Parts: sequence; C-alpha cells; structure tokens
Amino acid sequence: MLKILGIGNTLLDIVLSTSHFPKEDEEIRATRRDFQVGGNISNTLYVLKQLGHSTDLVSTIAGDHASKQILSGLKDHGIGTQHLQRYIQGQTPTSYITLNNETGSRTITHFRNLPEVDFDFFAKIEVENYDWLHFEGRNIENLIGMINIAKTFLTHQPISLEVEKDRQGIDSAIPLANLIIFSHHFAKQRGFKDGERLLTEMKKLAPNANLLCTWGKQGAWFSAPQSNIQHQPIHPIPQILDTLGAGDTFNAALIHAISEKKDLKSAVQFASQLAGRKCQQRGLDNLLTEIKDKKPIANIEQLSTSKTLIVPCADLDNSVILIKHNNTVKAYQNNCPHQDVPLNEAYKIDVNPFDKTMKCSVHEAFFTIEDGTCTEGPCINEKLVSVSINLKENGDIYLA
Ligand code: FES
Repeated sequence: MLKILGIGNTLLDIVLSTSHFPKEDEEIRATRRDFQVGGNISNTLYVLKQLGHSTDLVSTIAGDHASKQILSGLKDHGIGTQHLQRYIQGQTPTSYITLNNETGSRTITHFRNLPEVDFDFFAKIEVENYDWLHFEGRNIENLIGMINIAKTFLTHQPISLEVEKDRQGIDSAIPLANLIIFSHHFAKQRGFKDGERLLTEMKKLAPNANLLCTWGKQGAWFSAPQSNIQHQPIHPIPQILDTLGAGDTFNAALIHAISEKKDLKSAVQFASQLAGRKCQQRGLDNLLTEIKDKKPIANIEQLSTSKTLIVPCADLDNSVILIKHNNTVKAYQNNCPHQDVPLNEAYKIDVNPFDKTMKCSVHEAFFTIEDGTCTEGPCINEKLVSVSINLKENGDIYLA
C-alpha cells in the first residue's frame, strides 16, 4: 500500500442522466440526478483508494454550502482532507454534466470562481512522508514551483503528471516528472493526429520518463525510457454506460500497476481493462466488485425484435421490459407514464417490428422501441424510463 498525495482541483459534479442529448431549446426530463465529488484528482484518488492505497488531497475549497457536500463526499471516499486550502471568497467549482443514456457520452459545462492552491500553502506540506505525488497539469503559475520544491525533499518517490490541456508554460513541468499521461485533447491542441507522433515529440522533453497518450476508442500509446513507442488497443466494451471518470480510472490503475513493479506494457493493459470496466457502470463506486457476484436478468438469446420479455426486478419498483433492437438490447421500466401501471396490465405488449413501436395494453399508447417516447396515445411525448444494463460478451444481461 502506498501513501499517495494528489494535487489538483476538487469540485462538485451535478450529473443529469437523460434518455438522449437535448437539441438547443428543447425541454426534456432527466431520468436521474446525482450530486457527487468530481475533478480529475479526486476521482483518481478515489480509485487509488479502492485499489488499496492511502490517499490525501491538496486542493482549494470554498466556504459556501456546496463545499460541505464536497467535504462529506471526500470523507465517504476515504480521501484525506487535511491539506485543503480554504478560501472565504469564491464559490465551489461546479461541473454540470449531461450524461446521455443512449451513448454513455458526457457533455460538461464548467463553472469556476475559486483560486487554485498557491505555492506557499503547498510548501508547508511534508511531502517526504508520501510514497508518490500525482499532479494535475494545471495552475501552471504555481505548478512548476510546487514540483521543484517537492523534488528537493523527495529521495526516491515518483512524481506523475496528468497533462489534459495545453496550458501556457506546461512544457516546463514535463521534464520534472517520472510518469506523464497526455490526453488526446492535448495532442490535438498541439496539432498531432495520433499519440505516436505526440510521444515522439515529448520524448525530447522527457527522455527518462514513462510517457503515455490516451486516445479514447483508439486506445493508448506508451513509451518507457530508452524504448520504442507502443500501442495498446482499447479493452473491448460490450455496452458503454457512463464514460465520466474513465480517464481518471485509467490513471489510477496505471499508477497502481507501476507501483506494483509491473512493466509499462502490463500496467497499460491493466489500466485499459479497469477503465473499460468503469465505462460499463454508472459512477466510480465498487469499481473492483466482480460482476460475477451478480446474477444476469436474462440472456440475449431469449430476446427477439418482435416481442418483449418482461423480467421481475427486485432492485427496481417495476419489472423490466427487454427487447432486441438494432443488434443491441433496449430495457425500460414496465410502467406506463399515462397511469403508472404496467404496460401489460390488460393484455400482452404488442410490438410492431416495422414501425418499431410497443403498445401499452391499457389505453393503447404507442412507444418507440428506440428511446421509449410515446408517439401516439394519451401520454404523447412522455417517455418510458430506460433501465441501465450491461450486456456481456456471452449475451448475459445484467442490471448496471
Ligand atoms: S395506462 Fe398505458 S396508455 Fe393508459
């Protein structure tokens, strides 16, 4: 177990799950609302905690009401808060996230009105008591000084740096770290078309560091000191549910695997696997819980495109409607928005495979199989509540 110090920005995420991404000026209902601690560093430390490490956070925190939610969230995640720099003025940084249930994409609007950690505050922390320091590549006016002063106290402890965006002066921090993780956003901002070309350039700045560039569905490129650049494809994901925090999971898993003395290739494979698992579940809780502990609710072999399968579900208020659709599976709570009764209350649910609709047996409302919208009937434009599921490679279907 390592004692890890993470330095960056902690914030409040307000996540609205929606059945699709809204068009401009459209009014839609969220299927779920979550308030949670967010920010790359907080997420990374939370995953490291789940991997068995002790973690402390260096960040700033406001004095407003929302900051209490952050403090209690950090406590729940087991992240140490003794190094938080408090500001009376300013407001809690907040990210408003639209999580599209259809694709798993997350669209983020940031609100920022709080200074970041200053050098004098950081300089008082006894960094030599930690086994690993992980910095977010932001707050550049203080970052270089913070890494430099840390290095005067550290003897053998590695420093990792996440470079997510191209910020003026970030190049001065790159040669100071032992492990640098670049995002594809940074690579694109620098005009590179893939991670290999970025790392070729970055090796000139940090020839003795482990370098990585993550690139979403294209996987990751990596290079150990004095070694060639290699590529790791993405770990196969049967169904993407939620990509928020996948990059932070990757970073945490990478730090963990390197600390366990795995070579860089094995570490990247492990990180890719854990990030893939994260994409198949909502949030970061219980990331290491084996899916085999749960029971599948059905198998895709039981489904067809022309009739529904209704399965009972103890975890939800309603049973679940399952139906095959465009080589995947659609799942909805079996509850008609017209009168809060099961769609099969009076008779079975009729499916029209040509119009791709399902009909409520009570008052004949028609719902699209695609996203559960009522297109005809007494609750027109209302929606069935979609159910998040995991579809495994063997066809087993689990509640997410
Ligand atoms: S209860 Fe379904 S249409 Fe009325």
